Amino acid sequence: MEQLPSLATILEDAGAALSRGVLLVCDTNTEYIAKKILGSQDRPLCVLESGETRKGWASVEHIITAAKGAGLGRDGLFIGIGGGVVTDMTSFAASVYMRGARLCLISTTLLGMVDAAVGGKTGFDLLGIKNLVGTFFPASHIYMPLDALKTLPPREWKSGMAELIKTAVLDSAICDAVPRVETGETQVSLDKLKALGPFSVTNGVPSTLGELIERAVLVKGRIVEADPKEQGTERALLNLGHTFGHALEAAAGLGNLSHGEAVAWGMVRACELGLVLGITPESRARKITEIIAAYDYETTAPHPSMTDAALFMQALAGDKKRKPVNLPLLFPMHSGRSWFLRI
Ligand SMILES: NC(=O)c1ccc[n+]([C@@H]2O[C@H](COP(=O)([O-])OP(=O)(O)OC[C@H]3O[C@@H](n4cnc5c(N)ncnc54)[C@H](O)[C@@H]3O)[C@@H](O)[C@H]2O)c1
Repeated sequence: MEQLPSLATILEDAGAALSRGVLLVCDTNTEYIAKKILGSQDRPLCVLESGETRKGWASVEHIITAAKGAGLGRDGLFIGIGGGVVTDMTSFAASVYMRGARLCLISTTLLGMVDAAVGGKTGFDLLGIKNLVGTFFPASHIYMPLDALKTLPPREWKSGMAELIKTAVLDSAICDAVPRVETGETQVSLDKLKALGPFSVTNGVPSTLGELIERAVLVKGRIVEADPKEQGTERALLNLGHTFGHALEAAAGLGNLSHGEAVAWGMVRACELGLVLGITPESRARKITEIIAAYDYETTAPHPSMTDAALFMQALAGDKKRKPVNLPLLFPMHSGRSWFLRI
């Protein structure tokens, strides 16, 4: 959808009566969006500090305290308005509040639209580990108003692009469209991406921002439906590059790199590992690396932000879905070590 939904629309879609209680949750950068949605209505609004460093228990407790203060019962409605940080934490709070309340999400970042808001994973960071605590709790409704992206900073566009590239790797229709919006100059291609008008399809390949987002949601939705709780191998596909990426985020200090920057770098590492293990064709690894490099992401190892290699190794070892693999030389500084990964 292009425009922000009104509160009346959200409540009608959710089948929620105002008497049951509603809490809007946003961060300092999306507060203006929450206020637009509210219009002249006076409803409880919980405003969090923004950023990955705030994705912790203190913020979740703030949401739960606000919900109790607003008188939400079990049939009350949590409305998360923001990027992946706000939607992950609001979803977690809704999932545990009185053993599960109602939830809808309004995603306001490219990354949120193509990935974080979709699929029902909730969570927050603890002990310096990304998403250490979480639940599966899908929202009943997810809105993706393209209008909200007008205020998204360039770095966040780029961050979202990384998850879009990841999805492109899993889906040939997007893969064909990504080079189409890419002209070699990162800023130019990101500007081009932003300038794409809504919805027009050329030969069945998505060629506009709305189409790309829609396609990415369909790809993720298909995978999540096949393996909702990541018990099989299907949903793990969506984690491409995330073991290395999450470890890099931790080693660089949570919040210093965007999620997408870390995931893009992690995808290159996953390609290298796939080559070493003989499970990734050389041409595929090269194509993925070329696309990532064309968008001006860091591709070399070690990453310049990775000041503490031991922390990186520790974060890799602490990954939730680790599987032991013996690796020959992958990074010069960690040759011959046992790695734990999720690719
Ligand atoms: N649940 C999942 O399946 C899933 C999948 C991928 C990522 N994630 C999580 O998502 C998070 C990253 O999400 P993100 O990149 O959206 O980060 P984010 O939520 O931190 O948003 C990035 C920045 O943009 C600001 N912002 C958001 N919307 C804006 C707008 N419309 N205009 C101006 N500023 C705006 C935010 O305040 C923040 O400063 C990570 O914590 C990651 O773990 C979750």
